[in-house]
Amino acid sequence: MEKGRIFICETDEESRRQMRVLLESGGYLSEEFGAGGALLKYLADHREESPDLILLDTGVPGIGGFEIVRRLREVRPEIPLVMVSAFATVRAAVEAMKLGASDFLLKPILTEELLALVEKIVERNRLMAENRSLKAEIRRRFDPDQVIFRSSAFRRVFDFARKVASADACVLIQGESGTGKELIASTIHYASPRRDERFLTINCAALTETLLESQLFGYQKGAFTGAVSNHRGLVEEAHKGTLFLDEIGDITPALQAKLLRVLQEKEFIPVGATRARRSDVRFLAATNKDLEKEVAAGRFREDLYYRLNVISLHLPALRERKEDIAPLAEFFLAKYSPRREQAITPEALSLLQRYDWPGNVRELENVIEMAVILSDGLNLSPDHLPVKVAEKKEQTTFSPPERPMSMADVERLHIEQIYRQTGYHKVRTAEILQVSRKTLSRKLQSFGIDKSG
Ligand SMILES: Nc1ncnc2c1ncn2[C@@H]1O[C@H](COP(=O)(O)OP(=O)(O)OP(=O)(O)O)[C@@H](O)[C@H]1O
Ligand SMILES: [Mg+2]
Repeated sequence: MEKGRIFICETDEESRRQMRVLLESGGYLSEEFGAGGALLKYLADHREESPDLILLDTGVPGIGGFEIVRRLREVRPEIPLVMVSAFATVRAAVEAMKLGASDFLLKPILTEELLALVEKIVERNRLMAENRSLKAEIRRRFDPDQVIFRSSAFRRVFDFARKVASADACVLIQGESGTGKELIASTIHYASPRRDERFLTINCAALTETLLESQLFGYQKGAFTGAVSNHRGLVEEAHKGTLFLDEIGDITPALQAKLLRVLQEKEFIPVGATRARRSDVRFLAATNKDLEKEVAAGRFREDLYYRLNVISLHLPALRERKEDIAPLAEFFLAKYSPRREQAITPEALSLLQRYDWPGNVRELENVIEMAVILSDGLNLSPDHLPVKVAEKKEQTTFSPPERPMSMADVERLHIEQIYRQTGYHKVRTAEILQVSRKTLSRKLQSFGIDKSG
């Protein structure tokens, strides 16, 4: 595989050829241009093409070398550029760098020098591109549009989370396993003024006390066997950003005391250090334990609880917001079957809606992922669902009511079900229900039923 693709812009055909041979010997592919104008036109016409590097002779005819640099920076600022010149002066080099060239090479070009420089720049460019795409990926992951819900119960929590994002106080996020606590924590960070700084997470339940302490607060060289150098902890790494303390209900009393100090005074002491350090961190915490009970049982410090719980947020279980099941199932289907050729059959959907979801959204995600694997590209049907979900079949056709159902509830559910079963076909639905299309339309509207469920 080639190591990279390089555009050479150089008037002199012989020099061009030499550079190409040289680059090829280093494993690079190259493309040659005899004039700056041709290079500019090519790049403007082929926006999808991104060479790893441009080598530009400042003596190229037509538009002056520096002028080309300036225009290249305008059209394609992301492509690294190295200027090559036979008569370099310090001033020319400085000028080139000011305009945005990455480096400056003096002719005659030495093989070693060229290849070393090219390698350095191509590598750096790759890392930068990777970093850009990782950052974009993170933004996408925490794009508020990727938090899926339809229920008013979840909407209230979501709106509240975005509102408290701008505060600097700690938010305690509680909720059963898999309800989206981490997702909401990141929503808060990415909606907060700290969004361009780091969002770090630590799972307090996964580490032993000593390990957790050194991860959180860092340690000093020699603090314990194996501490061969100073190490910054997450509290320090997250300076100006957000630190999410997951499973906070599991930390030991000694660490609870140390954590209290950071929350109260923004101060902490790295393991083995004598002096306290400061860090400006916003804390978010989550737990699926009932912290109030833990406090009552004497396992969790009350003062720490109040510090953590300045703002508290409770995520409802999925079975308490069944309206969210269909849109979430669709969302996960699109995630695991991205070509969007598959659908969830009405029968499968109704099973999903009847199940209790003790593992909440995470469990639903796993079920859909598995179903996509089992389905061989067919629509997801009850056959592709795990037994625990599919066995709900024998029950009544209605989801268990949270309160006794009224006639209107029954009517709404029935219309909704038939409408879905016909694939949202109004004429067929009206036929089955033996009502006029006009009546159906009116009922659909008054019950607020639409294709989205
Ligand atoms: N409303 C939602 N929209 C889209 N994806 C969601 C939603 N809620 C949860 N998820 C997804 O479900 C999975 C579980 O969510 P998350 O890890 O935030 O839950 P949790 O409450 O932290 O769980 P645990 O207590 O087990 O740590 C993740 O993959 C998350 O992206
Ligand atoms: Mg979690």
